[in-house]
Amino acid sequence: MKIEPARIALVTGAARGIGRATTNLLLEKGYRVVAVDRATIDPTSSAGSPVNQNLWSASVDVTDHAAISALRDEIRKRWGDVAIVVNNAAISPKKANGRSAGILEIDDQEWQQVLAVNLTAVLKIAQAFLPGMQAGNWGRIVNVSSLAGRTKSIAAGASYMSSKAGVLALTRAIAGEMGPFGITANAIAPGRILTDMAMLSGPEANQLHAQQVPVRRLGTAEEVAASIAFLASEEAGFINGAVLDINGGFYMP
Ligand SMILES: NC(=O)c1ccc[n+]([C@@H]2O[C@H](COP(=O)([O-])OP(=O)(O)OC[C@H]3O[C@@H](n4cnc5c(N)ncnc54)[C@H](O)[C@@H]3O)[C@@H](O)[C@H]2O)c1
Repeated sequence: MKIEPARIALVTGAARGIGRATTNLLLEKGYRVVAVDRATIDPTSSAGSPVNQNLWSASVDVTDHAAISALRDEIRKRWGDVAIVVNNAAISPKKANGRSAGILEIDDQEWQQVLAVNLTAVLKIAQAFLPGMQAGNWGRIVNVSSLAGRTKSIAAGASYMSSKAGVLALTRAIAGEMGPFGITANAIAPGRILTDMAMLSGPEANQLHAQQVPVRRLGTAEEVAASIAFLASEEAGFINGAVLDINGGFYMP
């Protein structure tokens, strides 16, 4: 269904993986999408169309708070207020052998960088765009957490696990405070999804994992994007502060 006038969605980490799939799906659904990534976004990869007037690609690092504010102002001038934010950009550092740093190995640089990208940026981006949503009395925030934020992770380290658990708490805080303004905030917690990030652990680890998933496979970026698009939709208006597990039945709390 085409939404008139097209709502504006902002998706971070949109150059590849889940962010790219989400961008494509939201464009397909008729939204205007601001695709944010620190990497260059290939415009031909989005919605299969080289020129899409509903797509705005912005090369911004989500930890650059001034750049996020400047982008918000530019979007407001050209298109209007962003109504949907998908906080998807994240990093999951691995050592050369494909493993995460153990609890005794994590250094300050890793800890600070992971929290800056995976957690602090989620707060700063919410702070940047929530006032616009409040003004419009409608908004959706969809934060991408992880199975690693729900329970002990098999692959991710403590910095990533902590950041993703923090995202769940932040989501609940936003949901509680912003509900009265017609704004919902929800999180998704994907299990292993076949993207570049998952490949950091190597194909063997992924195969081994698939054998332990009830549906016997890893998830796809498109499957995750479908859940994000649902939580961003009008129909999902009574879902607030929820966590949607997307893991093939690997984890059933
Ligand atoms: N793939 C999985 O198995 C899996 C599982 C659980 C959760 N997740 C989460 O899903 C989300 C997307 O993961 P993915 O697998 O598509 O990852 P990915 O690594 O394939 O893509 C992440 C994108 O984020 C961008 N990015 C990273 N740091 C950034 C920054 N500082 N500023 C702007 N952009 C930045 C990268 O350039 C990249 O394009 C992440 O939040 C991740 O933690 C992934």
